[in-house]
Amino acid sequence: MMSSLYIWLSTVLLSVSVQGSNFSLNGWSMTVADEVRAEEGGSAVLPCSFTHPDTNLTLTGSVIWYNRKSLNYNVIFNCTYPGPDHSQGDVCENVRQWDGENRFRFAGNLSNKDLSIMMEGLSREDTDSYQCRVDLNINSFQTTTLTQLEVEAAQGNVSVVSGTEGDSVTLPCIFRSWGSHTLTTVTWMRKEPYQHIVTFTAQSQGTWTTGHGGNRYELIGNPWEGNASLRINQLSVRDNHTYLCLVEYRSEPDSQYLIQKETRLMVHVRRTVSTAMLVISLVSILLMLIIIIFVIFRKKEGGFCRE
Ligand SMILES: *[C@@H]1O[C@H](CO)[C@@H](O)[C@H](O)[C@H]1NC(C)=O
Ligand SMILES: *[C@@H]1O[C@H](CO)[C@@H](O)[C@H](O)[C@H]1NC(C)=O
Ligand SMILES: *[C@@H]1O[C@H](CO)[C@@H](O)[C@H](O)[C@H]1NC(C)=O
Ligand SMILES: *[C@@H]1O[C@H](CO)[C@@H](O)[C@H](O)[C@H]1NC(C)=O
Ligand SMILES: *[C@@H]1O[C@H](CO)[C@@H](O)[C@H](O)[C@H]1NC(C)=O
Ligand SMILES: *[C@@H]1O[C@H](CO)[C@@H](O)[C@H](O)[C@H]1NC(C)=O
Ligand SMILES: *[C@@H]1O[C@H](CO)[C@@H](O)[C@H](O)[C@H]1NC(C)=O
Repeated sequence: MMSSLYIWLSTVLLSVSVQGSNFSLNGWSMTVADEVRAEEGGSAVLPCSFTHPDTNLTLTGSVIWYNRKSLNYNVIFNCTYPGPDHSQGDVCENVRQWDGENRFRFAGNLSNKDLSIMMEGLSREDTDSYQCRVDLNINSFQTTTLTQLEVEAAQGNVSVVSGTEGDSVTLPCIFRSWGSHTLTTVTWMRKEPYQHIVTFTAQSQGTWTTGHGGNRYELIGNPWEGNASLRINQLSVRDNHTYLCLVEYRSEPDSQYLIQKETRLMVHVRRTVSTAMLVISLVSILLMLIIIIFVIFRKKEGGFCRE
């Protein structure tokens, strides 16, 4: 109750200083996405990062996420910020369970002041506003910008793609363009553990560049036409994972809109014929040929005898 009132008050009183999705006050700042679009049955990452005033204290406290079902703010995620020397372990990293369905987990990195969470097994009812907050021993901070999550009806199941070791495979990422905003980046993430794979950045000439990530990953779709499909070359069994495609749009000032799609990649082990097997097969074929020739030769010989 107290905390809902506090949030309500701070939302009303402090909203003047909101600068897009980066809200800053008294040396603190917090950045979140304005809107995230994901698919029923898939996953969504709600990004949140913050900065705090200089301190000599070791930070402890909690990472909190709220949603605002039926106008109330409900805690949907609460994990403990590690104490000095990580004495309590990286508690957040291990938190998965919250709503009894194991659907929320930490996808951030406390050392980087990244408080992002991932929601899995999305349903249409998860469409809601979400708020990021951090309660630390030095103070508490939260955004006034809520992240609107939009869960859209799935166009079929979460896509599954198969490939064989050594080959190439295409991970599809087909999306509906976000009309009035500016398309800025396409990022592919590995889902578990949540890990960056490659980011492609839109250039003014309409081309796409990638920093690092190597030539094993190619953006082959045309994102301007709602296709951010990725080709992975030289597949290895280590690529056998689920991937998230994150398409980012921006608008002034600083607003961020994300479209997220999930794809499962199944990598099959290439069946290799061993040298021993090859030798045995060749010897068998040779033996059969000798027997056949021998039999034919004997038949012919027999024919001569009868004549
Ligand atoms: C938000 O903007 C402030 C400057 O106004 C900047 O110092 C800060 O790093 C930004 N916060 C984040 C989390 O990016
Ligand atoms: C941190 O400690 C140093 C050295 O003791 C001091 O100079 C500095 O002002 C302190 N910073 C803060 C934010 O308290
Ligand atoms: C989050 O969890 C901590 C530790 O269990 C607890 O002290 C705190 O009150 C919780 N915060 C909220 C907002 O529920
Ligand atoms: C978190 O960030 C730190 C600092 O950048 C980095 O060293 C560490 O590997 C990251 N942890 C994870 C789990 O990515
Ligand atoms: C979705 O998955 C189910 C079970 O795996 C399958 O029976 C069904 O045909 C799939 N639907 C589509 C549209 O791929
Ligand atoms: C997306 O682009 C790839 C590569 O050009 C193409 O193979 C695929 O058919 C496209 N998908 C759709 C739905 O346009
Ligand atoms: C790939 O992942 C699936 C599902 O996690 C698993 O069943 C399969 O054995 C894995 N394949 C390989 C080659 O590791």
